[in-house]
Amino acid sequence: MKNNFSNIKKSKYYLDKNECIGIPTETVYGLAANAYSQKATSKIFKLKKRTKKNPLIVHYHNLKMLKNDCQTNAYFIKLYKKLCPGPITFVLRLKKSSNISKNVTNKKKTLAVRFPKHSVTRKLLKELKYPLAAPSANISSRISPVSKEDVKDEFGKKIKFIIDGGRSKIGLESTIVSLINKPQILRLGGIKVSIINKILKTRLKFKNKNKKIIIPGQGKIHYSPGIPIRLNIKKPKQYEAFMLIKKKKLSDKNFYYLSKTNNLKEAAKNLYKTMRIIKNKNFKCIAVEKIPNTGFGEVINDRLKRASAK
Ligand code: TXA
Ligand code: MG
Repeated sequence: MKNNFSNIKKSKYYLDKNECIGIPTETVYGLAANAYSQKATSKIFKLKKRTKKNPLIVHYHNLKMLKNDCQTNAYFIKLYKKLCPGPITFVLRLKKSSNISKNVTNKKKTLAVRFPKHSVTRKLLKELKYPLAAPSANISSRISPVSKEDVKDEFGKKIKFIIDGGRSKIGLESTIVSLINKPQILRLGGIKVSIINKILKTRLKFKNKNKKIIIPGQGKIHYSPGIPIRLNIKKPKQYEAFMLIKKKKLSDKNFYYLSKTNNLKEAAKNLYKTMRIIKNKNFKCIAVEKIPNTGFGEVINDRLKRASAK
């Protein structure tokens, strides 16, 4: 965090050369590249082992830059004014005149955009002449990274540079809202749906019954630590790592607290970090205490369900 100035110079150097770097955001760390460059964005897909069918989120510093690439509308402006920069992603119509690489959109006419809040990444975006395409900095379907070390854990020496921006404050991805026709919640995340509803005076709900996958990257298996996960567990088995949200009288070395006080926001922040620690300790299975399905609990349950899908 100390060397912000030189970090930003170094990042700009690599990005201008069409390289990918790791960037901190308040949600999770991103694997970033010049969104206008075919060459740079190709590298993201290769590093992440991501199918080209799965489009990327593009990160902007401000509205002026966004308007080069997207059509905005009244819903967007309302949400932008109240919530940006922040953990929300908008799907908007792409302008014909946009320079966004075809890799980013999978040749579609929509674009997912976001204005991250993390101060270092905001400083970086301000210095660049292009927006940054940045999916979460993990190998596809694995756990998203919430620190520089996590990004290293995923890619080792394969990426040139990672900006250290400390632990991601929210620890889960952004909420995605499509504003193409009627507003629609595509992914739960860092901004509660109730807040979006209040601003738009709507009654949107997140519908995900595994019927049809509306967004390519939200398949059943996702955010997976690569070992089985059992949900709603009261008593874990001896060999399991146990993730909890409330302090227990009797404790055990295999207990991993997401929160000790039933604080769901704190638990959300610790979820990916804790799953990564457990995975790296070579546990064969994770058991999870029942998490109430309210507020951030709903987001945690969404991620756990996908992480445990077979
Ligand atoms: O918090 C976040 O959103 C993080 C940080 C780094 O900004 N990024 C992130 O990106 O989570 P990613 O690629 O891991 O997830 C983006 C999701 C994918 O599921 C992708 O399919 C979907 O957004 N997506 C991208 N473009 C889309 C579009 N035009 N329409 C619908 N879904 C889209
Ligand atoms: Mg991701």
